[in-house]
Amino acid sequence: MAAPVVDAEYLRQVDRARRHLRALISNKGCAPIMLRLAYVLLLTTPVCSPNSTAAWFCLVALPTAWRGESARLEPIKAKNPKITYADLYQLAGVVAVEVTGGPTVEFVPGRRDSSVCPREGRLPDAKKGAPHLRDIFYRMGLTDKDIVALSGGHTLGRAHPERSGFEGAWTQEPLKFDNSYFLELLKGESEGLLQLPTDKALLSDPEFRRYVELYAKDEDAFFKDYAESHKKLSELGFTPR
Ligand code: HEM
Repeated sequence: MAAPVVDAEYLRQVDRARRHLRALISNKGCAPIMLRLAYVLLLTTPVCSPNSTAAWFCLVALPTAWRGESARLEPIKAKNPKITYADLYQLAGVVAVEVTGGPTVEFVPGRRDSSVCPREGRLPDAKKGAPHLRDIFYRMGLTDKDIVALSGGHTLGRAHPERSGFEGAWTQEPLKFDNSYFLELLKGESEGLLQLPTDKALLSDPEFRRYVELYAKDEDAFFKDYAESHKKLSELGFTPR
């Protein structure tokens, strides 16, 4: 289904929300959770089928820990009421990458909200391997290159034992978006840093590994591919005009 064309006032509010998001995300240092929220919403909403309508994940279905985080966006939604939640969350993900030094990800507005809650989670299981990652991401129309580039999102943030059972950051500077995730992955396990089984799967699978090696040695290539894959992910179920 084609996305509705947004009007001039909507675009004005998108610009303003982008400024508000830059300030919020920089001041609160909450880029990692905003990026994760944007990604998780796409994987757990009914938007997973490339042909469905982009939807807003019903917030009651969010783990409690994230409800507080997502509430941070409410004042921005209140000041920019025309923007749908679906657009606002994806814009927050794009801004999170930008303000931490990552590439500019093109943002096209026009997603529609829905109050339909997901019946089942479709998040990848961090304890599994390459076939599982392909199973989850292929059905959304994503490729091996997308899987590796998007996994580079773990350049930001950390795991919390009370949330996932895992602990630690993937890189030395978890508030900086760069290619250090891939450099650390190739170095092997190091004291104090995390590698999930799904991160390690990117090394053991030859198709995935060639992208890991490319992104570790060429940050520009990573940024270019990341920006394309993030845009693709953020537009699942949404056909911009
Ligand atoms: C955090 C798994 C892909 C962005 C996490 C955590 C796990 C996880 C277990 C720790 C959660 C916690 O304890 O708080 C996975 C798996 C993936 C995947 C199995 C499959 C490839 C992605 C993608 C992105 C992403 C595609 C975005 C492009 C993040 C971020 C955090 C995170 C930014 C840190 C959140 C924070 O600091 O609170 N992920 N993830 N992940 N993930 Fe992923």
